[in-house]
Amino acid sequence: MRRQIVAGNWKMNNNLTETDILIADLKRQNKTSNAEVKIAPTYTNLWHAYQALRLTEIEVIAQNMHFAEKGAYTGEVSADMLQSVGVKTVILGHSERRAYFNETAEMLAKKVDAALDNDMNVIFCFGEELDDRKSGNHQQVVESQIRNGLFHLEEDKWDSIVMAYEPVWAIGTGETATPEQAQEMHAFIRSVLQSAYKPGIAEKTPILYGGSVKPGNAEEIFSKPDVDGGLIGGAALKAEDFFAIVNAF
Ligand code: 13P
Repeated sequence: MRRQIVAGNWKMNNNLTETDILIADLKRQNKTSNAEVKIAPTYTNLWHAYQALRLTEIEVIAQNMHFAEKGAYTGEVSADMLQSVGVKTVILGHSERRAYFNETAEMLAKKVDAALDNDMNVIFCFGEELDDRKSGNHQQVVESQIRNGLFHLEEDKWDSIVMAYEPVWAIGTGETATPEQAQEMHAFIRSVLQSAYKPGIAEKTPILYGGSVKPGNAEEIFSKPDVDGGLIGGAALKAEDFFAIVNAF
């Protein structure tokens, strides 16, 4: 059985006070599923969130990091800095990073390596735009994103990788991929993994779905055999909604 994971990507939301309030709400929720739970607050609140949640099952993770160890990269944050505030997992390749901050395939591959070299885990995001889907290129686009970002890795590194399929047209739009569309893509991703690596890797690597997952649609999406959880944006900002999704397994 693969790991089941629900991760909340808070994006650029919640100052320190709001982070405190949401964390207090999260601690009041009842978890009834076996899913691993993770939240990704903004950098400035990571240490605080880590301390507030260290005795709980909720892991605090980062939304991004730079690939360099240290140096003249004004405004950036390194793997070592994240580790030093208790963070062991980082989201990389989110479509908002790719689209608004020009993160390229080459940069992302370097970030993946930097995270793994620093003994961190990676949630690697990818997904097609609406035009790609309309023109029938969605599988090709996704395949090239995962090949460029991850397929240089040796087999033993894959224990630290979680994949997250987030179709750009479904992020923050209220429009979700149908459970069938999600399943079809996740099965395709697994088949691409299968063709590149020994079978165990495709079988054990968790593939999360992200894009307008809500309490009302999570159960059906998570019921699909190749969907191992979700990367949640908007609905992660309300503790009850987030835990309704965590408990949808
Ligand atoms: P929404 O759940 O708000 O669509 O965001 C998904 C996402 O981008 C998670 O990383």
